[in-house]
Amino acid sequence: MTKTNDGIQAIKWLDNKLYLLDQRCLPDKQLWQIYDEALDVSKAITDMVVRGAPAIGITAAYAVVLAARAAWASHKIEWKQVMHTPLKQLAASRPTAVNLHWAIERMTLFYANLADDHSPEVELLKEAKRIHQEDIAANHTMGRLGAELLTENSSVLTHCNAGALATGGFGTALGVIRQGYSEGKIKQVYTDETRPWLQGSRLTAWELNHDNIPVILQIEGAAASLMATGELNWIIVGADRITANGDVANKIGTYMLAILAQYHGVKMMVVAPSSTIDWQLDSGDDIPIEQRAVTEVTTLQGQQIAPEGIAALNPAFDITPAELIDAIVTEKGVILSPSIEAMRAIKV
Ligand code: MRU
Repeated sequence: MTKTNDGIQAIKWLDNKLYLLDQRCLPDKQLWQIYDEALDVSKAITDMVVRGAPAIGITAAYAVVLAARAAWASHKIEWKQVMHTPLKQLAASRPTAVNLHWAIERMTLFYANLADDHSPEVELLKEAKRIHQEDIAANHTMGRLGAELLTENSSVLTHCNAGALATGGFGTALGVIRQGYSEGKIKQVYTDETRPWLQGSRLTAWELNHDNIPVILQIEGAAASLMATGELNWIIVGADRITANGDVANKIGTYMLAILAQYHGVKMMVVAPSSTIDWQLDSGDDIPIEQRAVTEVTTLQGQQIAPEGIAALNPAFDITPAELIDAIVTEKGVILSPSIEAMRAIKV
């Protein structure tokens, strides 16, 4: 049995500063960006220095610590009254991943109970670290639960990056893949390159290589013909937001894979912590989909690859309806054939 390694970490708190592994530079270089201002962290989230729903949430929690430090330094006893502006900027940094709002809300509820006349930093940092550690623990639980669904000798396809880089560590979809591989249940992993940011080729392929898990990279357009060979057993992906009826927002292209999977009899697994579930939204129709700059489509590493001025679409996410999903794996349990009723089983 091959030993898997969950040692990759993209978020660290060191010497009272936030360190983010710059995911735009991988796999070429491992460059750490250092932050001590909440506003700069908001920009880092927008600019994809850090990405992946749980990682965005954890980063936001640490950004709240930085915002509170600045608020205390400038306003002392009135520090809570000046938190609104930095937290609003933080909440606006990316619209689809609900973990961002979940983390800001958890930190806000936490500091509401802190004293006005003491520096809040130490207590808030403890809460941010708890959020970080709970995410890693949830990933290990989901890894075990998801791996139980796999049969021996499975081949799986993943999309985008839902690994250690996209979370506090270990990963959601890649957590299941790491666990499944360590149990001898997975023989082959395929990853889509994931245009336009190439999270599959730059990040997922790098993570799996790092752990010596066999991975084959393909362009998105190859997914149907791979499924037609009968070689694939599961598609395993993460999520940016799951609604109360089990609809899933994830990286653009996930919906296409789910439709292909149904046609070819391949199963579809979504792996996400309960912080990714937005119980306030009834269905995927209500999820805000981030539209990013069209230059991400018309250029590749700074090089123009389409006619100058061409119109282009660049939605970062799509919605996969619950009926196309076989299993949603959370740390609170597995929901088979998700529906409003089935989802209620993990609502506490
Ligand atoms: O645009 P990104 O890279 O932030 O998109 C990430 C995804 O779509 C992931 O699949 C999702 O956030 C889950 S990460 C565990």
